Amino acid sequence: MLSDLTQNLEPEFAVEIEGVSKTYAGSNKQAPKQALKNVSLKIRRGSFFGLLGPNGAGKSTLINILAGLVNKSSGTARIWGHDVDTEMRSARRAIGVVPQELNIDPFFTPRELLDLQAGLYGVPKAERETDAVLEAIGLADKAEAYTRSLSGGMRRRLLVGKAMVHRPPVLVLDEPSAGVDVDLRRQLWSHVKKMNEDGITVLLTTHYLEEAEAMCDEIAIINHGEIIACEPTEVMLSRLDAKDMTVTLSQPLTKIPGALSAYNPVLNRPDCLKVSFAPSKTPARKVLADIEDAGLVVNDFSTTDSDLEDIFIRLTHGGQASDHADDAA
Ligand SMILES: Nc1ncnc2c1ncn2[C@@H]1O[C@H](COP(=O)(O)OP(=O)(O)OP(=O)(O)O)[C@@H](O)[C@H]1O
Ligand SMILES: [Mg+2]
Repeated sequence: MLSDLTQNLEPEFAVEIEGVSKTYAGSNKQAPKQALKNVSLKIRRGSFFGLLGPNGAGKSTLINILAGLVNKSSGTARIWGHDVDTEMRSARRAIGVVPQELNIDPFFTPRELLDLQAGLYGVPKAERETDAVLEAIGLADKAEAYTRSLSGGMRRRLLVGKAMVHRPPVLVLDEPSAGVDVDLRRQLWSHVKKMNEDGITVLLTTHYLEEAEAMCDEIAIINHGEIIACEPTEVMLSRLDAKDMTVTLSQPLTKIPGALSAYNPVLNRPDCLKVSFAPSKTPARKVLADIEDAGLVVNDFSTTDSDLEDIFIRLTHGGQASDHADDAA
């Protein structure tokens, strides 16, 4: 009785993952692969959550475990309070997943596909909102077209529509920007943003820091199957507020001027000095001016931004960003 009552309340966390590991069994040619190592994540109800990581990090594996498409090796996962193992049906009803692969039957029309999907989820005909979904994903004018005639971006939007027909409170998008051009991406994002504003919890995976930055209020970084950071976007960005400047000097240097010590200076070569700075506090031109004020003559300079690689290095080793300096400022 009590559990019935609590089930009806909206949970604090839309998704709760605890100690989840996954090892894919090997075959005779391939060794077993551990794709997830003891992953724990809590996604607050109503949030727009980004799971950021490079190829092969384990993002799709995690999503597919939530979707019931991959069996985890250990740990627990709950969606909207429902355990994916013991309350599989309720858990699946609470989630809509837009998969990474574009798997759409080309011989149906968008309207037919959305109707079929609603049927699969047992949404009664009278309660289906096929037209509203078509409108929301910008495919109202393609409702009767063969799906095979749709562009890649349109197919992806159709997949978003398919994931939403049973009106789940949690929407999961696995690499939704792949193969979508800038205009369509913007359109897709504004639809998804709107859904989030209407109360849907969104979880998306991406390779792109900028995408996660722009869309998400919380970001987790996954690498080699492990969560290496998880925090509100602003907190993460303030931690990433770091750039390197590498300057080539007209004269070799024997001693780094003390005036530059706040920049953690490192001599890469006698005529090549690297300094680090926080762009939100110190603009690059101030760094350059300080270097010249310290009596050094700069022949050339370049700055490097944090990229995912740098972030991983910084987060996993607690150290400095890598010192390649190839982006001329
Ligand atoms: N069915 C499978 N059998 C064996 N290994 C797999 C299987 N699926 C994924 N893997 C391996 O598990 C690891 C994680 O893969 P996963 O697809 O979860 O990564 P991802 O973060 O989604 O990568 P991408 O950004 O490329 O989509 C990879 O090393 C991958 O090769
Ligand atoms: Mg993937």
